[in-house]
Amino acid sequence: MVRAQPVPAHVAVIMDGNGRWATGKGLPRVAGHREGVKAARAMVRAADAIGLRFLTLYAFSTENWNRPEDEVTTLMRLLEESIYRELPELMSRNVRLRVIGRPTGVPLPVRRGIDHVVHETRANTGLTLLMAFNYGGRDELLDAFRALARRVRAGDLEPEQISEAHVGGALYTDGIPDPDLLIRTSGEMRISNFLLWQIAYTELWMTTTLWPDFGPSDLYRAIADFQRRTRRFGGV
Ligand code: FPP
Repeated sequence: MVRAQPVPAHVAVIMDGNGRWATGKGLPRVAGHREGVKAARAMVRAADAIGLRFLTLYAFSTENWNRPEDEVTTLMRLLEESIYRELPELMSRNVRLRVIGRPTGVPLPVRRGIDHVVHETRANTGLTLLMAFNYGGRDELLDAFRALARRVRAGDLEPEQISEAHVGGALYTDGIPDPDLLIRTSGEMRISNFLLWQIAYTELWMTTTLWPDFGPSDLYRAIADFQRRTRRFGGV
C-alpha cells in the first residue's frame, strides 16, 4: 500500500524485459511488446489513482533503431495503434501527453498520431504522461548545448552566465521537475542513456520482474520503499 506520506511527484520507468518475457513463453518478441503496452496502460491508471504529477515511460530509445527491421516496424505500428486507442481514456482521466525525444526520423503516421494526441490533451490538468520516444539522453544534451551555443553566438548569453537553469531550460523536459524515483525492470543495473542530466539526485529502484509482469502493486512497493529513504541531495 502507498502510505499517507507524500507520493513522489515524478516517477520515470525504464520498461525492460518484453522480449525475454515472450521468449520465455515460446512466443515471438512482439507478443512481449503487446503485453508491455497493457502493463504501460495499467501503470498510467495506477499513477493517476495515487496522484502522481508526472509519469515518464521510456518507450523507444535512439538505440532501438538497431533492432531487426521487422521488430522496429511492429513496434512503430503498435505505438501508432496504441496512441489513438488510448486517447479517450487519457481524456476521461484528464491526462496530458507530452513527448520527449527527437522528432526527426520517426515514421510520419506515428509522428502524426503522437502530435494529434499531444494536441488533444494539451489542456488536461491531471497527470502528465511523458513518453520518451526516439529519445537519447546524450542527444538531448547535445541539442541543449547547441541551442545554448546559438544563443551565445547571437550575443544573447555570455558563456560564464550559463547556469544549471539554462541547461535545464534547454532540455526536452523544460518545466518538468526532475524524477524523484527511477524504476527499471528485468534485472538490468544500468541507466541506458535515459534522462542523464535529470537523474542527478533521483532515487533508483530496480527489480528483476519483467515489464509485462510489472503491475500496480509493484509500483506501490517501489513508492513505499522510496518513502522510507532519506534524500540528502549531497547534504547530511
Ligand atoms: C523493452 O523490452 C521495451 C522496449 C524496447 C520498449 C517498448 C515498450 C513497450 C511496447 C511498452 C509500451 C509503451 C508505450 C508507452 C506504448 P525489450 O524488448 O528490451 O526486452 P528484452 O530486454 O527482454 O529484449
